[in-house]
Amino acid sequence: MSIPPQIGRGVPRADAHAKVTGAARYSAEHRPTGAVHAVLVCSRVPSGRITGIDASRALVSEGVLAVLSHLNLPRVAAQPRLIPSLAGTTAHGQSFFPMQDERIHYAGQPVAMVVADTLERAEHAAELVGVDYAEEPWTTTVDQGRDRAYEAEHIFGGFVPGRTDRGDVEAGLAEAETVLESTHRFAANHHNAIEPSAATAVWEDSKLTLYDTTQGPTATRLTVAELLGVPPSNVRVVSEFVGGSFGGKAMIWAHPTLAAMAAQHVRAPVTLALTRAQTFSNTGHREEQEHTLTLGARSDGTLTAIRYRKLSPTSHFDDWAEPSLGPAAQLYACPNFEGVYDLVRANTMTPTFMRAPGEGTGAFVIETAMDELAHELGLDPLELRLRNHADTDPETGNPWSSKGLRECYARGAELFGWHSRDPRPVQGARREGDWLLGTGMASAVYPVYSVMNPQRARARVYADGRAVVETGCSDIGTGAATVMGQVAAEALGMQSEAVTVHYGDTELPNTVAAVGSAGAGAVSAAVHTAARKLRDQLVAQALADQGSPLYGADPDEIEVRSGRMSLRGSPGTGEAYGEMLGRNMTFDAEAVGSWQPPGRDSGYGTATFGAQFAEVAVDPGLGLVRVRRMTGVFAPGRVLNRRTAHSQLMGGMLWGLGQALLEATHMEPNQGRWANPSLGEYLVPVNADTPDVQVEMLEVEDRVVNPLGVKGVGEIGQVGAAAAIANALFHATGRRFRDLPITIESVM
Ligand code: MOS
Repeated sequence: MSIPPQIGRGVPRADAHAKVTGAARYSAEHRPTGAVHAVLVCSRVPSGRITGIDASRALVSEGVLAVLSHLNLPRVAAQPRLIPSLAGTTAHGQSFFPMQDERIHYAGQPVAMVVADTLERAEHAAELVGVDYAEEPWTTTVDQGRDRAYEAEHIFGGFVPGRTDRGDVEAGLAEAETVLESTHRFAANHHNAIEPSAATAVWEDSKLTLYDTTQGPTATRLTVAELLGVPPSNVRVVSEFVGGSFGGKAMIWAHPTLAAMAAQHVRAPVTLALTRAQTFSNTGHREEQEHTLTLGARSDGTLTAIRYRKLSPTSHFDDWAEPSLGPAAQLYACPNFEGVYDLVRANTMTPTFMRAPGEGTGAFVIETAMDELAHELGLDPLELRLRNHADTDPETGNPWSSKGLRECYARGAELFGWHSRDPRPVQGARREGDWLLGTGMASAVYPVYSVMNPQRARARVYADGRAVVETGCSDIGTGAATVMGQVAAEALGMQSEAVTVHYGDTELPNTVAAVGSAGAGAVSAAVHTAARKLRDQLVAQALADQGSPLYGADPDEIEVRSGRMSLRGSPGTGEAYGEMLGRNMTFDAEAVGSWQPPGRDSGYGTATFGAQFAEVAVDPGLGLVRVRRMTGVFAPGRVLNRRTAHSQLMGGMLWGLGQALLEATHMEPNQGRWANPSLGEYLVPVNADTPDVQVEMLEVEDRVVNPLGVKGVGEIGQVGAAAAIANALFHATGRRFRDLPITIESVM
């Protein structure tokens, strides 16, 4: 019998049945005996001081157990820090913890927390808490703070320097025959996961269990333990089901710690679920931003200089900007580059990761500018990219660990029919009735992160022929748990269906948070290492066992299929894992594997690449844009599961569509707060907006990033998609759209 490889198969999601039948329980749905509810009262002013809190009416309201505020909430044991959770360590979302003093830094900041026996009673009492403020002037937008901008020392939690230079940009611009400058503005965005952030906290003596919807259970554990001043081993975090995240649950915001504090105060389990509006102010966002790009090129199209400045608001307590300059720095073989992040202190929460954090906005800028340059020079946009192809990492000169971008361009162009494109970007050159038609393309790049702690997993085989694999990571809907089973099956020589996965619990071996498209690579590496170790252990046991038909055989001659160890090429020989364990009166066998990522100095450039193509139809009279087709071809290293990887990439491309045409959180500058904090007014693509999306994956071999060569698919689908759409709009109308989203009124 031939067994197909387990890795790569389109195995259905391990969590699919539980999710579609409603059996899956999310963090706020855990109802331990005696559980009560906490509800936040949030500041209506963006800046100033609390001058008084009147809790008297709330305290006598039915069912109310406590009203907590800076007047009576305990102080946190440690000052929060701005640390991203990529490393699998403590991961505060910002260096500010609410309800510690009377200071107001942003509208929507928690100022009180009401605990009551039911959610409705807690919500009602929260309305009765009177808060008085002494308001102070505020800044909430780029335009309000432009004059006070400063150059950041570091951004992105300290990961990225505020300034990067290579070569000599002045000299490069002097060499250029064409210089293009463009300014691009981006609206703020919010994640809007279907499941808003929530935590349920249960104390048993000094031990805390938190059901938290998080991308990183370990990060939640370490953060909450540090803030509460308790040993991390006393905190268990369970996060089995996460209803979407997109970066909004990567940092560990205040609410899990607040839930734990409330539970301690009322001596009962407490659920604290943020409302959707509260997530807008309390779980980070993609910041509003303004990018200014200067490109210098020779007449043959080769780039001589890139100068890039980004300006964006951050909070009053942290320097955060998403690293938008990455794609411009990494995509092309340009010797001279200068990039600067300018920040404005604003009365908002600290911005955070949001899917393709930085790459999504930065690729829009460099890839629409490249389209403009191609047009100026009379070159095909794809040809211009090929002329500037970076054969080595332009930032370091290092070789790429793998690339595949040329192949993506070629395959994408073929699938999309790029080469038969009419090059004229003239309004109405191609029309169908009132609709003007155009096509565009863009490149995609996303880094492969490998700076993190050792990644651990445990594999166990039972005598009954089943196996279990365990890691602590959560599955935010990507299919991480499913691929864990496939990777374990492949390494153990079993079928995926025989492997059960356990995940989303800090009691299990530690893995990195599901961030930065790094989850699948890290977790698959850990699982592969553990399962391979167990397989070798079991084979060694059989070869040393006089009762085994394989006694004394050469380990290199053994293969395992469907859990049966046999001599290579003789599938009927040997015995199953279970037979050997049973004969030895052993119920199971297990191994823990640990994989150390290569780190920053691998000597290679590591990134995933792709090519995006889009066709649009525009009705300029009505300002309507319809995306008719999207084609994305990506080279994500090894594909672990064709079905889930396809979904990730398609979902990313549709995010790009939303970014291009719909998604915007509007700051009301006179109130200093978000004006549309709901899914009713924050627009995301629905099925009616969704075109025919064609996704293809070109596997490339990568021996550097991790043992299986997995480069990740969580974010790259979004990168470049909005640029391809805007470039198609230019092709249809002859007009450049530089700001996102491209709204009806800007097209009319
Ligand atoms: Mo992802 S936006 O790095 O959580």
